[in-house]
Amino acid sequence: MGDVSGSQPHPSPIQLLDVEDVLKKLTKTEKAALTAGIDFWHTKAIPRLNVPSLRLSDGPNGVRGTRFFNGAPAACFPNGTALAATWDVDLLQKAGVLMGEEAKLKGAHVLLGPTVNMQRSPLGGRGFESFSEDPVLAGFAAAAIVNGVQTTGVVASIKHFVTNDQEHERMAVDSRVTERALREIYLLPFQIAVRDSRPGSFMTAYNKLNGVHLSENRRILQDVLRGEWGWEGLIMSDWFGTYSTSGAINAGLDLEMPGPTRWRGGILEHALLSKKITEHTLDLRVREVLKLSNRVRDSGVPENAPEKSQNTPETAALLRKIGSESIVLLKNESNALPFKKTETVAIIGPAAKAAAYCGGGSATLNPYYAITPFDGISGKGGSVKYSTGCYAHKMLPGLGAQVKTADGKPGVVFKAFTSPPTVTDRVPVDTIEIVDTNMYLSDYTHPKLTENLWWAEVEAYFMPDESCEFEFGLTVHGTGKLYVDGEVLVDNETTQRPGGSFFNVGTVEETGIKHVEAGKTYKIKVQWASGVTSKLAEADGVVSFGGGGLRIGGARVINVEEEIKKAVELAKSVDQVVLCVGLNSDWEQEGHDRPHMDLPEHTDALVAAVAAANPKTVVVVQSGTPVAMPWANDVAAVVQAWYGGNETGNAIADILYGDVNPSGKLSLSFPKQVEDNPAYLSYRSERGRVLYSEDIYVGYRYYEATKKAVSWPFGWGLSYTTFALSDLHVAVDDKSLIISASVENTGSVDGSEVVQVYLTQQDPSIRRPVKELKGFQKVRVEKGSRKKVEVVIERKYATSFWDEERDQWIEESGVYDVLVGNSSANTPLNASFEVAETSWWSGL
Ligand code: BGC
Repeated sequence: MGDVSGSQPHPSPIQLLDVEDVLKKLTKTEKAALTAGIDFWHTKAIPRLNVPSLRLSDGPNGVRGTRFFNGAPAACFPNGTALAATWDVDLLQKAGVLMGEEAKLKGAHVLLGPTVNMQRSPLGGRGFESFSEDPVLAGFAAAAIVNGVQTTGVVASIKHFVTNDQEHERMAVDSRVTERALREIYLLPFQIAVRDSRPGSFMTAYNKLNGVHLSENRRILQDVLRGEWGWEGLIMSDWFGTYSTSGAINAGLDLEMPGPTRWRGGILEHALLSKKITEHTLDLRVREVLKLSNRVRDSGVPENAPEKSQNTPETAALLRKIGSESIVLLKNESNALPFKKTETVAIIGPAAKAAAYCGGGSATLNPYYAITPFDGISGKGGSVKYSTGCYAHKMLPGLGAQVKTADGKPGVVFKAFTSPPTVTDRVPVDTIEIVDTNMYLSDYTHPKLTENLWWAEVEAYFMPDESCEFEFGLTVHGTGKLYVDGEVLVDNETTQRPGGSFFNVGTVEETGIKHVEAGKTYKIKVQWASGVTSKLAEADGVVSFGGGGLRIGGARVINVEEEIKKAVELAKSVDQVVLCVGLNSDWEQEGHDRPHMDLPEHTDALVAAVAAANPKTVVVVQSGTPVAMPWANDVAAVVQAWYGGNETGNAIADILYGDVNPSGKLSLSFPKQVEDNPAYLSYRSERGRVLYSEDIYVGYRYYEATKKAVSWPFGWGLSYTTFALSDLHVAVDDKSLIISASVENTGSVDGSEVVQVYLTQQDPSIRRPVKELKGFQKVRVEKGSRKKVEVVIERKYATSFWDEERDQWIEESGVYDVLVGNSSANTPLNASFEVAETSWWSGL
């Protein structure tokens, strides 16, 4: 176990508080202070009353700890859409338990996750973090994770409540949504999570909903969440997502994050004085902070604990299992898969030697390790050859892994200074050796760096193993220049261009090319000044977390045509090909949405050329959300592998070689082109608002209603075996639907199938979707055998829609069809039941 705590204060255990007694003893100043963070990741302690400082940590696909830069190594889980693609709530609960254990290692009391927003569009920058376009799958996945996390005593803060479904102008945008869509699509996953897992905390969304920011939206926080749903717990803002003092306090926002406060403290005391806020209301907020402290006591995590890393075989095994269970076999013609070890294989493609383990932004963490597809596949022991084919990076790959320090260690040396390089005798206040040259410094602190303006220098030595043209890149939030052997190669200081980096406050990657010779050593140096020196104006709706950032990248310049030719020649020479393509954390990241749904430039051409050269071409796509696959008809097999966490390459290899029989099912529809998506014309902020014009017809609800063909439908996924579903029975009483069916494994290998239960109402009084997912069950069936599956669904959740006239759920009398199958596009079994009387309901 590695302790990477640095010089943190001594941990002390958390005491049980007598909440009402503490409340009586707190001064107004203390109460005000308790409702805001003190720094990026901690709440305020009041030692005289034993009130501890609690630690909060991102979330959602692992636990990063308290540092974006040089963070303690951690377990990275597959991303949200991947987790949901397992359709396995027991496995997700286990994932949640491990997340809770990882939180404890990082000394965190609250995990900032799961993310439960909806993928209205394939283009969402954070679509990868959320689970699904379907509220029921998203709700069940969220509840399973929350239940797992909370069994460890750590509290989950489910986020972002609600309708933070795009990145464009995310702080400013007004999501305009009908009440029906809000209830049936956007609130429902949160409602299910409250019903089934009681998360101890909620995080509000940045945006407005129908005119009111969520962090001051009394109707949503007080009336719906605490009132209708009867939920108890602490509501915190998203980071810098509090925009008022009395508005937010009166609306129910308990905790402003991060600190130091902008809106509370002295201003809050003034609001008390002027009775904009009553002390009673402030007490409601403070009480939740104190109750949170009691709630997290069972975690055993002391205050200010050192951060630890514990990379165990058990953790690796669970991550590998979740990773492989999430992978979806989209297509498999002529049994191209699984690969045979006796046959030669070429691994081709830009994603083969890069581990796309995670999307970008606050979900990012420093993984214990990350297995590339190349390492995973070649680890299977067959005969393997490799060719790059083309590049697909948006930004040049990190230079850190390609260079050494003066002592010959991998990586670079980072030095922080309180004076600029013009001060020739300046002495660094901090020196860090690090491999990761993507340095996001918002939460980096050092006792001697007391001003917002400070400087850094990064130094390394580059020894190319071939003579070539080499491209270096420098991206900054702040200003910087990159020198090779003392000469400026990249100037990202004199003029700067905005580029979406560092949560959208940074520049584009500026680049420079240098001819380098094999065997020579080149000294690389970057001089950088902190975020406040940036010449970029802050864009509307952009969150600056302060600090700054710099990223150094580099890659050999290639001639794409020649590389594709090489790849084609290689493909011709082998029995089978695996093409590794996709996006990565630069393409899919917090802060901005994707401009289109295409794979990076040259990828489609590479796939087409290789597929023409070898009929046994299997394409593995890594992305968190759908990408267009214009070549899908021309390749033998397609595998959707998401961002698979630490074990991503091993999980892919397990599927390719049949060590794991694929059982993942798509957690969202893959349209043929982005224009087919129902939110295509309304997926950005237009003068401050975004209209949810597709209403409840999100994802498959729209494609089915309009009979629009998709590349791959919601719920879709193949196996190396075949299953037959039969014997559907539906038993119904006032409260529940009990649906049972038999699943027979009719093929020649053991495998798992997901029985999906959809519902449709015959002759509803208003238009409803063709069908909607209401329940599911994953079941493992050995070859040649059969198992009975039972899915129990609360009847009112299965049947009801939101009645805008009554402002309640309505269960209409009439006949309902239960459709059972293994994807939204294949529901061979059906049965009906009747509801005798119309009724309305509210709450959970
Ligand atoms: C994100 C949250 C995250 C927080 C802290 C925000 O930008 O929206 O999801 O928990 O930062 O990193």
